[in-house]
Amino acid sequence: MPVPMLDLKRQYQALHKELVKALGQVLETQQFVLGEHVAAFERAAGQHLGVRHALGCSSGTDALWLALAASGIGSGMSVITTPFSFFASVSCILRAGATPVLADIDPATFNLSPAAVETVLNGPRGKGVRAVLPVHLYGHCADFSPGFGRARGLAVIEDAAQAWGAEWQGVKAGGQGDAAAFSFYPTKNLSAAGDAGLVATNSDETAERVKLLRQHGMRRRYHHDEVGWNARMDGFQAAVLSVKLKYIDGWNEARRALAARYHQLFIKAGLAESGACPAHGVVLPREMPGARHVWHQYVIRAPRRDALREFLAARSIGSEIYYPIPLHLQSALKSLGYAEGDFPEAERAAREVLALPIFPELRQDEQAAVVAAIAEFLS
Ligand SMILES: Cc1ncc(COP(=O)(O)O)c(C=O)c1O
Repeated sequence: MPVPMLDLKRQYQALHKELVKALGQVLETQQFVLGEHVAAFERAAGQHLGVRHALGCSSGTDALWLALAASGIGSGMSVITTPFSFFASVSCILRAGATPVLADIDPATFNLSPAAVETVLNGPRGKGVRAVLPVHLYGHCADFSPGFGRARGLAVIEDAAQAWGAEWQGVKAGGQGDAAAFSFYPTKNLSAAGDAGLVATNSDETAERVKLLRQHGMRRRYHHDEVGWNARMDGFQAAVLSVKLKYIDGWNEARRALAARYHQLFIKAGLAESGACPAHGVVLPREMPGARHVWHQYVIRAPRRDALREFLAARSIGSEIYYPIPLHLQSALKSLGYAEGDFPEAERAAREVLALPIFPELRQDEQAAVVAAIAEFLS
């Protein structure tokens, strides 16, 4: 049985009428860039996240840059983040004019390890660090218990691109740090019909600066107070997002049920291994105490990962590797001065992780087919 990694058409079929109506309203009003549709989405989004300000913008990448720049991060400063994420988690720091400093991940969650952050802060690269940028990878919040240097006055900027609705100790992703960035790229758990993003913050001052920076630093038309950028959200994306926001809690619940079912299927098939390193079976992802996972991705660690992926592909079963090359080993980031061996957990994760199909409309027989194919490969 073929199983897609993600099938957005199933969601579209269910929402077709509502979406077409919402897009028609944008056409009626001809409010295409920022304007009333974006403002309506921002209000609803802020309420959903439980933050004072939610500001729509053009992508998650721009949201990260806006969050950093609006928080005062720039040249001469360093920002700590993870080497195991999408490229934008590091490139946004460079774009803000600051220096990325990396710290290894916690192998259990794939997220920035607070202990590793502490070690970096006390080491030679710790000087000049003004902010920490944890990523809530795969929909699981980074461990915020030690506060990521907040006690030392560091700003915390969340990369919540994959984590709409996720929680840490009862607080939603987006409300943990000083500012947070979300992505609504079409594969995300809350997705637009194109590129879009959002900055969340409880700070009035940061929100004002985001508004300024996303629109060429203009408060008054053609009066530029500082060098901003064009990073605005468009009305069509806001209209689509306003429709989908009404369903996100149900979709996240469906993802949680699917993750629980994968867990049971793997246990029943005798494939689940405990410990960190998969030898003959697979290491299953976990929800840590204090976290509420939204399962943007269901990511296992597998032995002979690349061969397994080919085996699944030959049976038309989708899978993905997020991410095959840790950021410190990317050609574009050579100038950061890191080398192979610097972040052993990120490097091991890059060799072992495999994301399996998970989306709210995934059927139970499809899930069973995924696990059966993995069992066949490992037998
Ligand atoms: C962790 C992470 N950060 C940042 C981004 C960038 O978001 P966008 O693709 O909307 O620019 C993404 C998504 O691609 C992401 O997964």
